[in-house]
Amino acid sequence: MKEIVLDHAINQQGNSTGDSMEWKELNIPGYERVVEVIEPAVGLHVFIAIHNTSLGPALGGTRIYPYTNHKDALDDALRLAKAMTYKSAIAEDGLGGGKAVIIADSKTQKTEKLLLAFGEVVDRLQGSYIAAEDVGTSPTDMTVVRRKTKYVAALPTHLSSGDPSRFTAYGVFRGICAVAQSLWGSPKIQGRTIAIQGLGNVGAKLARLLFWNGANLVVCDVDPAQTGSLAKLYGAKIAPPQQFETTPCDIFAPCALGGVINEKTIPQLQCAAIAGAANNQLAHADLGQILQKKNILYAPDYVVNSGGIINAAQEFEPGGYDPKTARDKVYNIYNILLSIFETSKKNAKPTSLVAEELAKHNLDKKIGKRTGSLHFH
Ligand code: NAI
Repeated sequence: MKEIVLDHAINQQGNSTGDSMEWKELNIPGYERVVEVIEPAVGLHVFIAIHNTSLGPALGGTRIYPYTNHKDALDDALRLAKAMTYKSAIAEDGLGGGKAVIIADSKTQKTEKLLLAFGEVVDRLQGSYIAAEDVGTSPTDMTVVRRKTKYVAALPTHLSSGDPSRFTAYGVFRGICAVAQSLWGSPKIQGRTIAIQGLGNVGAKLARLLFWNGANLVVCDVDPAQTGSLAKLYGAKIAPPQQFETTPCDIFAPCALGGVINEKTIPQLQCAAIAGAANNQLAHADLGQILQKKNILYAPDYVVNSGGIINAAQEFEPGGYDPKTARDKVYNIYNILLSIFETSKKNAKPTSLVAEELAKHNLDKKIGKRTGSLHFH
């Protein structure tokens, strides 16, 4: 990795954060552009990774997390940006892949000044990266970022697409129906036991959809109050967050953080399938093959959780945001997953590899490439 320090060049652009902003271009093979920006005056330390913009500008969430070291933060930005490229390539939404990762505790260190400085950084990328909410940021935070740059999506305004989690949850629900169809010959989930890990924005909405469709739920969250109130609402069983992966169920739905499918958890899994919202569920790509050998059907995370990005992409259309178009596209996640499952069976390949090949095919052939310009509202 080669670093080029460009702080002087940036300061010449006359932005308000002034001389103290340190801007480094990191030369990382396979990525179009990766920047590390530090603004000590406001406590900003951010990595923005732009993985691939061959189908459109990179849209990806802004994560605020108290990483214990810089390498973990950079690695997360790189892995998440690449997953965004694949997600958008398969969704054919005319966007590329990118991600921003800010090293900070979102509960104690997320200040207005920090968000404004981040907005300046995004603005200087001139639209090659478009920010949105993610773990540690909210749509309201994004309205602060918007004061410094127009390159922000999923805002809580009437012209924007709003909180993406309702569409992400619906997409995961459709993914779970596709799993049911593939394993049991019917998309109905009535009577099936589904274990949801993480009851935040997506997990709680998913629980609601599953409940009304007749599923039995087992739930957990590190927040006991959230777990208790949701379990009461939907008659769900509660299992402790430690080793939740070992909960016996038909489908395990990871909706908290990534890396939950790893060498330690795989031997303990007691599910027929995995389909959830969390990004980067597999600790590394080879685990897809081990899941296949164990006969556990894995719905690739960046396909099953693409509802949010599909919804956000709608706001750039010339006619403006239309939730009904977004809903119909998210509905189709079911068919995309079924075709991945079928190819996996036919060619005896892990579903994770089939999804990666599909994403690469769309990137190579420029399938779904954006033709017009984006309309910002
Ligand atoms: P969130 O931050 O609202 O919810 C996450 C929940 O998981 C929180 O309630 C938290 O207390 C809980 N949690 C954290 N660690 C846990 C653990 N070890 N065990 C059990 N629960 C734990 O996040 P959100 O928006 O619901 O997203 C969930 C996941 O889905 C994240 O990985 C996110 O990157 C991914 N995702 C979210 C999208 C969205 O539209 N919000 C879109 C695509 C992916």
